[in-house]
Amino acid sequence: MNLVAIQVFGLCYLTVFVSSTTVKPLKESAMGENGLLCGGTLIGPYHVLTAAHCTAPIRHNDIAVIVLNASVLSIAPVNLVPRSSIQLSFTNKSAVVAGWGATGSSQDESPVLLKTTIQIRDNKNCSTYYESGLPAFFNGSIMLCAADNAGKKDTCPGDSGGPILVNGFQVGITSFGRGCASVPGVYVRITAYLDWIAATMKSNPKVIIKSQNNKEKQN
Ligand SMILES: *[C@@H]1O[C@H](CO)[C@@H](O)[C@H](O)[C@H]1NC(C)=O
Ligand SMILES: *[C@@H]1O[C@H](CO)[C@@H](O)[C@H](O)[C@H]1NC(C)=O
Ligand SMILES: *[C@@H]1O[C@H](CO)[C@@H](O)[C@H](O)[C@H]1NC(C)=O
Ligand SMILES: *[C@@H]1O[C@H](CO)[C@@H](O)[C@H](O)[C@H]1NC(C)=O
Repeated sequence: MNLVAIQVFGLCYLTVFVSSTTVKPLKESAMGENGLLCGGTLIGPYHVLTAAHCTAPIRHNDIAVIVLNASVLSIAPVNLVPRSSIQLSFTNKSAVVAGWGATGSSQDESPVLLKTTIQIRDNKNCSTYYESGLPAFFNGSIMLCAADNAGKKDTCPGDSGGPILVNGFQVGITSFGRGCASVPGVYVRITAYLDWIAATMKSNPKVIIKSQNNKEKQN
Protein backbone atom coordinates (compact mmCIF):
# COMPACT_ATOMS: atom_id res chain seq x y z
CA MET A 1 0.00 0.00 0.00
CA ASN A 2 1.22 3.50 -0.70
CA LEU A 3 1.60 5.58 2.41
CA VAL A 4 -1.62 7.56 2.46
CA ALA A 5 -1.54 8.84 6.00
CA ILE A 6 1.20 10.57 7.85
CA GLN A 7 1.46 10.74 11.59
CA VAL A 8 0.80 14.27 12.81
CA PHE A 9 2.03 13.51 16.33
CA GLY A 10 5.40 15.13 16.85
CA LEU A 11 5.60 16.55 13.35
CA CYS A 12 7.33 19.86 12.94
CA TYR A 13 4.71 22.31 11.82
CA LEU A 14 4.12 25.95 12.45
CA THR A 15 0.68 27.08 11.46
CA VAL A 16 -2.71 25.47 11.44
CA PHE A 17 -5.72 26.81 9.62
CA VAL A 18 -8.91 25.64 11.20
CA SER A 19 -12.32 25.72 9.54
CA SER A 20 -13.18 28.84 7.64
CA THR A 21 -11.68 31.82 9.39
CA THR A 22 -9.64 31.05 12.47
CA VAL A 23 -5.92 31.18 12.06
CA LYS A 24 -4.36 29.38 14.94
CA PRO A 25 -0.60 29.35 15.21
CA LEU A 26 0.57 26.40 17.20
CA LYS A 27 3.82 25.76 18.93
CA GLU A 28 5.85 23.05 17.38
CA SER A 29 4.84 19.62 18.65
CA ALA A 30 1.89 21.08 20.54
CA MET A 31 0.00 17.94 19.70
CA GLY A 32 2.71 15.80 21.18
CA GLU A 33 2.52 17.76 24.40
CA ASN A 34 -1.25 17.22 24.55
CA GLY A 35 -0.60 13.55 24.06
CA LEU A 36 -3.22 13.51 21.33
CA LEU A 37 -2.36 11.19 18.51
CA CYS A 38 -3.88 12.02 15.16
CA GLY A 39 -3.45 11.08 11.55
CA GLY A 40 -3.39 13.36 8.57
CA THR A 41 -2.83 13.16 4.85
CA LEU A 42 -0.33 14.96 2.73
CA ILE A 43 -2.30 16.98 0.17
CA GLY A 44 0.66 18.93 -1.20
CA PRO A 45 4.37 19.21 -0.39
CA TYR A 46 3.64 21.78 2.33
CA HIS A 47 0.12 20.80 3.39
CA VAL A 48 -1.39 18.20 5.67
CA LEU A 49 -5.14 17.69 5.90
CA THR A 50 -6.37 16.62 9.33
CA ALA A 51 -9.28 17.00 11.74
CA ALA A 52 -9.67 20.38 13.46
CA HIS A 53 -10.23 18.73 16.84
CA CYS A 54 -6.67 17.42 16.64
CA THR A 55 -5.49 20.99 17.02
CA ALA A 56 -8.28 22.74 18.94
CA PRO A 57 -11.46 21.73 20.80
CA ILE A 58 -13.70 21.98 17.73
CA ARG A 59 -16.33 19.56 16.45
CA HIS A 60 -18.24 21.56 13.86
CA ASN A 61 -16.41 21.86 10.52
CA ASP A 62 -13.89 19.38 11.87
CA ILE A 63 -11.29 20.06 9.21
CA ALA A 64 -7.87 21.70 9.36
CA VAL A 65 -4.97 22.27 7.04
CA ILE A 66 -1.53 22.23 8.59
CA VAL A 67 1.12 24.19 6.76
CA LEU A 68 4.52 22.58 7.17
CA ASN A 69 7.71 24.58 7.57
CA ALA A 70 9.55 22.32 5.14
CA SER A 71 8.38 20.40 2.12
CA VAL A 72 7.76 16.67 2.11
CA LEU A 73 8.77 15.43 -1.31
CA SER A 74 9.31 11.75 -0.56
CA ILE A 75 5.62 10.93 -0.17
CA ALA A 76 3.12 11.38 -2.98
CA PRO A 77 0.14 13.49 -1.91
CA VAL A 78 -3.16 11.68 -1.60
CA ASN A 79 -5.78 12.20 -4.30
CA LEU A 80 -8.71 14.12 -2.90
CA VAL A 81 -12.12 13.19 -4.24
CA PRO A 82 -12.57 15.18 -7.48
CA ARG A 83 -15.02 18.00 -7.97
CA SER A 84 -16.92 15.81 -10.46
CA SER A 85 -17.97 13.60 -7.51
CA ILE A 86 -19.63 16.38 -5.55
CA GLN A 87 -23.11 14.96 -6.11
CA LEU A 88 -22.15 11.44 -5.03
CA SER A 89 -23.20 10.15 -1.61
CA PHE A 90 -20.81 7.11 -1.70
CA THR A 91 -23.54 5.06 0.00
CA ASN A 92 -22.65 1.36 0.15
CA LYS A 93 -19.16 1.93 -1.26
CA SER A 94 -16.28 -0.02 0.21
CA ALA A 95 -13.89 2.39 1.84
CA VAL A 96 -10.40 2.08 3.26
CA VAL A 97 -9.57 3.74 6.58
CA ALA A 98 -6.03 3.98 7.93
CA GLY A 99 -4.28 5.13 11.06
CA TRP A 100 -2.09 4.49 14.07
CA GLY A 101 -5.01 4.56 16.49
CA ALA A 102 -6.06 2.09 19.16
CA THR A 103 -6.68 -1.44 17.94
CA GLY A 104 -9.85 -1.74 20.04
CA SER A 105 -11.66 -0.16 22.98
CA SER A 106 -9.07 0.57 25.68
CA GLN A 107 -6.38 -1.04 23.55
CA ASP A 108 -3.01 0.49 22.76
CA GLU A 109 -2.32 2.61 19.73
CA SER A 110 -0.65 0.76 16.87
CA PRO A 111 3.08 1.27 16.31
CA VAL A 112 2.54 0.70 12.59
CA LEU A 113 0.07 2.20 10.16
CA LEU A 114 -2.92 -0.11 9.90
CA LYS A 115 -5.75 -0.08 7.39
CA THR A 116 -9.02 -1.84 6.98
CA THR A 117 -12.04 -1.81 4.69
CA ILE A 118 -15.51 -0.79 5.83
CA GLN A 119 -18.72 0.35 4.10
CA ILE A 120 -20.16 3.83 3.79
CA ARG A 121 -23.76 4.05 5.06
CA ASP A 122 -26.56 6.29 3.89
CA ASN A 123 -27.19 9.49 5.86
CA LYS A 124 -30.47 8.28 7.33
CA ASN A 125 -28.82 5.20 8.74
CA CYS A 126 -25.99 7.34 10.17
CA SER A 127 -28.37 9.80 11.85
CA THR A 128 -30.12 7.11 13.86
CA TYR A 129 -26.93 6.37 15.79
CA TYR A 130 -26.31 10.00 16.77
CA GLU A 131 -29.83 11.16 17.66
CA SER A 132 -28.67 11.87 21.21
CA GLY A 133 -26.04 14.30 19.95
CA LEU A 134 -23.39 12.28 21.76
CA PRO A 135 -20.66 13.05 21.14
CA ALA A 136 -22.16 15.19 18.33
CA PHE A 137 -25.09 15.20 15.91
CA PHE A 138 -24.66 13.67 12.49
CA ASN A 139 -25.10 16.14 9.62
CA GLY A 140 -25.08 14.35 6.26
CA SER A 141 -24.31 17.44 4.22
CA ILE A 142 -20.90 17.81 5.84
CA MET A 143 -20.33 14.31 7.23
CA LEU A 144 -20.54 10.71 6.14
CA CYS A 145 -20.47 7.59 8.26
CA ALA A 146 -19.08 4.16 7.68
CA ALA A 147 -19.00 0.83 9.46
CA ASP A 148 -18.24 -2.82 9.11
CA ASN A 149 -21.59 -4.54 8.68
CA ALA A 150 -20.31 -7.40 10.85
CA GLY A 151 -19.50 -4.86 13.59
CA LYS A 152 -15.85 -5.83 13.94
CA LYS A 153 -13.83 -3.14 12.16
CA ASP A 154 -13.77 0.61 12.80
CA THR A 155 -11.58 3.60 13.36
CA CYS A 156 -10.75 4.15 17.01
CA PRO A 157 -9.17 6.87 19.20
CA GLY A 158 -5.91 8.00 17.63
CA ASP A 159 -7.21 7.56 14.08
CA SER A 160 -8.78 11.03 13.97
CA GLY A 161 -7.55 13.23 11.17
CA GLY A 162 -6.69 10.23 8.99
CA PRO A 163 -8.36 9.38 5.71
CA ILE A 164 -11.26 7.33 4.45
CA LEU A 165 -10.76 6.48 0.78
CA VAL A 166 -13.02 5.16 -1.97
CA ASN A 167 -11.25 3.74 -5.03
CA GLY A 168 -8.05 5.43 -3.85
CA PHE A 169 -9.59 8.88 -3.48
CA GLN A 170 -9.91 10.48 -0.06
CA VAL A 171 -13.60 11.18 0.58
CA GLY A 172 -13.45 11.84 4.31
CA ILE A 173 -11.45 12.66 7.42
CA THR A 174 -11.86 10.55 10.55
CA SER A 175 -13.80 12.76 12.96
CA PHE A 176 -15.77 11.10 15.75
CA GLY A 177 -17.58 7.98 16.88
CA ARG A 178 -18.82 6.27 19.99
CA GLY A 179 -16.57 3.52 21.22
CA CYS A 180 -14.91 1.30 18.65
CA ALA A 181 -16.93 -0.87 16.25
CA SER A 182 -20.12 -0.26 18.23
CA VAL A 183 -21.82 2.38 16.06
CA PRO A 184 -20.70 3.67 12.63
CA GLY A 185 -17.77 6.08 12.72
CA VAL A 186 -18.26 9.62 11.42
CA TYR A 187 -16.04 11.31 8.85
CA VAL A 188 -15.88 14.86 7.53
CA ARG A 189 -17.42 14.80 4.01
CA ILE A 190 -14.60 16.24 1.90
CA THR A 191 -16.82 17.09 -1.09
CA ALA A 192 -18.36 19.79 1.12
CA TYR A 193 -14.96 21.40 1.72
CA LEU A 194 -13.15 21.23 -1.62
CA ASP A 195 -13.40 24.99 -2.12
CA TRP A 196 -12.23 25.70 1.42
CA ILE A 197 -9.26 23.33 1.06
CA ALA A 198 -8.21 24.84 -2.27
CA ALA A 199 -8.55 28.41 -1.03
CA THR A 200 -6.67 27.68 2.20
CA MET A 201 -3.80 26.02 0.36
CA LYS A 202 -3.65 28.80 -2.19
CA SER A 203 -3.56 31.63 0.32
CA ASN A 204 -1.09 29.81 2.58
CA PRO A 205 1.38 28.21 0.19
CA LYS A 206 4.19 28.11 2.73
CA VAL A 207 4.82 29.11 6.29
CA ILE A 208 5.91 32.66 6.83
CA ILE A 209 8.57 32.55 9.52
CA LYS A 210 8.80 35.74 11.51
CA SER A 211 12.39 36.28 12.50
CA GLN A 212 13.38 38.02 15.72
CA ASN A 213 13.61 41.45 14.13
CA ASN A 214 10.08 40.85 12.89
CA LYS A 215 10.95 40.81 9.21
CA GLU A 216 8.94 38.20 7.43
CA LYS A 217 10.93 35.52 5.77
CA GLN A 218 9.32 33.29 3.17
CA ASN A 219 10.54 29.80 3.85
C1 LIG B 1 11.38 23.27 10.50
O1 LIG B 1 11.30 23.20 11.91
C2 LIG B 1 12.25 22.33 12.49
C3 LIG B 1 11.98 22.27 13.98
O2 LIG B 1 12.02 23.54 14.54
C4 LIG B 1 13.65 22.81 12.21
O3 LIG B 1 14.57 21.88 12.74
C5 LIG B 1 13.85 22.91 10.71
O4 LIG B 1 15.11 23.45 10.44
C6 LIG B 1 12.75 23.79 10.10
N1 LIG B 1 12.93 23.77 8.65
C7 LIG B 1 12.99 24.89 7.93
C8 LIG B 1 13.15 24.71 6.46
O5 LIG B 1 12.89 26.01 8.42
C1 LIG C 1 -27.40 0.09 -0.08
O1 LIG C 1 -27.51 -1.25 0.32
C2 LIG C 1 -28.75 -1.57 0.94
C3 LIG C 1 -28.66 -2.99 1.48
O2 LIG C 1 -28.19 -3.85 0.50
C4 LIG C 1 -29.87 -1.37 -0.06
O3 LIG C 1 -31.10 -1.62 0.56
C5 LIG C 1 -29.85 0.08 -0.56
O4 LIG C 1 -30.80 0.27 -1.56
C6 LIG C 1 -28.48 0.46 -1.09
N1 LIG C 1 -28.46 1.88 -1.34
C7 LIG C 1 -27.87 2.42 -2.40
C8 LIG C 1 -27.98 3.90 -2.55
O5 LIG C 1 -27.23 1.77 -3.22
C1 LIG D 1 -28.03 0.58 9.10
O1 LIG D 1 -27.48 -0.24 8.07
C2 LIG D 1 -27.00 -1.51 8.53
C3 LIG D 1 -26.28 -2.19 7.36
O2 LIG D 1 -27.12 -2.24 6.24
C4 LIG D 1 -28.16 -2.30 9.08
O3 LIG D 1 -27.69 -3.55 9.55
C5 LIG D 1 -28.77 -1.53 10.23
O4 LIG D 1 -29.91 -2.21 10.71
C6 LIG D 1 -29.18 -0.13 9.75
N1 LIG D 1 -29.60 0.60 10.93
C7 LIG D 1 -30.69 1.38 10.93
C8 LIG D 1 -30.99 2.05 12.22
O5 LIG D 1 -31.34 1.56 9.91
C1 LIG E 1 -25.76 20.83 8.37
O1 LIG E 1 -24.63 21.53 7.91
C2 LIG E 1 -24.93 22.51 6.94
C3 LIG E 1 -23.63 23.06 6.40
O2 LIG E 1 -22.83 23.58 7.45
C4 LIG E 1 -25.79 23.58 7.59
O3 LIG E 1 -26.16 24.55 6.62
C5 LIG E 1 -27.06 22.94 8.15
O4 LIG E 1 -27.77 23.89 8.85
C6 LIG E 1 -26.69 21.79 9.09
N1 LIG E 1 -27.91 21.10 9.49
C7 LIG E 1 -28.22 20.94 10.74
C8 LIG E 1 -29.48 20.19 11.00
O5 LIG E 1 -27.54 21.38 11.67
